[in-house]
Amino acid sequence: MKIAILGGDGFVGWPTTLHLSAQGHEVHVVDNLSRRWIDTELGVQSLTPMDSIQERCRIWRETTGRAIRFHLLDIAQDYERLKGWLAENRPDAIVHLAEQRAAPYSMKSDRHKVYTVQNNTNGTHNLLAALVETGIDAHLVHLGTMGVYGYSSVGAPIPEGYLDIEIETPNGKKGQEILYPTRPGSVYHMTKSLDQILFQFYAQNDGLRITDLHQGIVWGTHTTETRLHDQLVNRFDYDGDYGTVLNRFLIQAAIDHPLTVHGTGGQTRAFIHIQDSVRCIDLALGDAPKTGDRVRIFNQMTETHRVRDLAELVAKLTGAKVAYLPNPRKEAAENDLVVRNDQFLSLGLDPTTLAEGLLEEVVDVARRYAHRIDRSRVPAVSAWTKELGAKIDRDPEGKALKSAS
Ligand SMILES: NC(=O)c1ccc[n+]([C@@H]2O[C@H](COP(=O)([O-])OP(=O)(O)OC[C@H]3O[C@@H](n4cnc5c(N)ncnc54)[C@H](O)[C@@H]3O)[C@@H](O)[C@H]2O)c1
Repeated sequence: MKIAILGGDGFVGWPTTLHLSAQGHEVHVVDNLSRRWIDTELGVQSLTPMDSIQERCRIWRETTGRAIRFHLLDIAQDYERLKGWLAENRPDAIVHLAEQRAAPYSMKSDRHKVYTVQNNTNGTHNLLAALVETGIDAHLVHLGTMGVYGYSSVGAPIPEGYLDIEIETPNGKKGQEILYPTRPGSVYHMTKSLDQILFQFYAQNDGLRITDLHQGIVWGTHTTETRLHDQLVNRFDYDGDYGTVLNRFLIQAAIDHPLTVHGTGGQTRAFIHIQDSVRCIDLALGDAPKTGDRVRIFNQMTETHRVRDLAELVAKLTGAKVAYLPNPRKEAAENDLVVRNDQFLSLGLDPTTLAEGLLEEVVDVARRYAHRIDRSRVPAVSAWTKELGAKIDRDPEGKALKSAS
């Protein structure tokens, strides 16, 4: 297949690009490199030294003989170029990962909220409108998030996208299938909830074939293909905005920083290893919906864990200390989470779970590149409200206190 990976320079996009290229597909990366600019804005860098996307593609070709083509294009700002690119290249499938994906970044300030909504909502809508206009019948696989549902403890397992309900009518109860209600917990999650509505409309109105993958928090860094060469290494975020919880604990342990748990650590979250994330995208591509089908929704996660249990597990493994800090997020202190993922299991996913070996591998990567870490960027300082902002602990290591004499 000819596959366009929108956002193919990112954390999930790069290993997905390599994996699909290794499977023999013709792969095109479309990316505006905004994530690299955000690193510059925040004054951080990937823990692993990433080469330019052009250099990464060159190394892949040298290592495997396979070509990956890169196209510098902003899908949110440049509608006409996106439409032209699609018309010229006519992909069979599109993997859409090109969004601003950090909840803390989306809550940093009003400007960050506006940027996240403009980038994510326009990007997704531009793509859908351009597919209709060009008449391209590509299967669109989008990366959404489990976080669209919020984290309240309903008790029942979260289904894969849809919920059967009954409504009282004057003629008695009538059954209806609705999208499982969203309850986004940040502006970022709100944009993913909006994406769902856009998909629903374009599938029903124009027969677009869409799969929406509601992904859990991704952990790990290497995949089979990124291990092939040092310069194919994946990006690896450790900072308070883009670093995700388990990866952050593992990195913090590697540099002897306290593991920063927010609130009681009673939040339960869904997780998936990066290798499985890549595999799920591949499985979804191989199981496309037909024209006229409703949007296919998968829960792309393999296990759930309570944050404080993860911190304790990493502490036990590495000897790190755990620091309980005020929570910058507006969320329930404790929640349960039960999620169905039958569809991927039935397609043959064999989940990679939290094995000690894999956790150690991440700690080893972090130790190898520890010299690239700016410790002052480790605390999460983006608050959900001004009131919460006033309570943030910007110095969990107590450095300011120690240096006062
Ligand atoms: N990483 C996770 O834990 C996680 C969890 C759930 C869902 N997801 C979803 O998976 C997708 C990929 O996540 P990631 O961790 O790889 O993020 P990332 O930020 O590393 O990658 C996103 C890529 O998209 C590009 N991009 C952003 N806006 C663009 C635009 N307007 N035009 C072209 N390119 C653009 C960025 O430059 C970047 O290379 C996101 O949509 C995210 O919401 C990620």
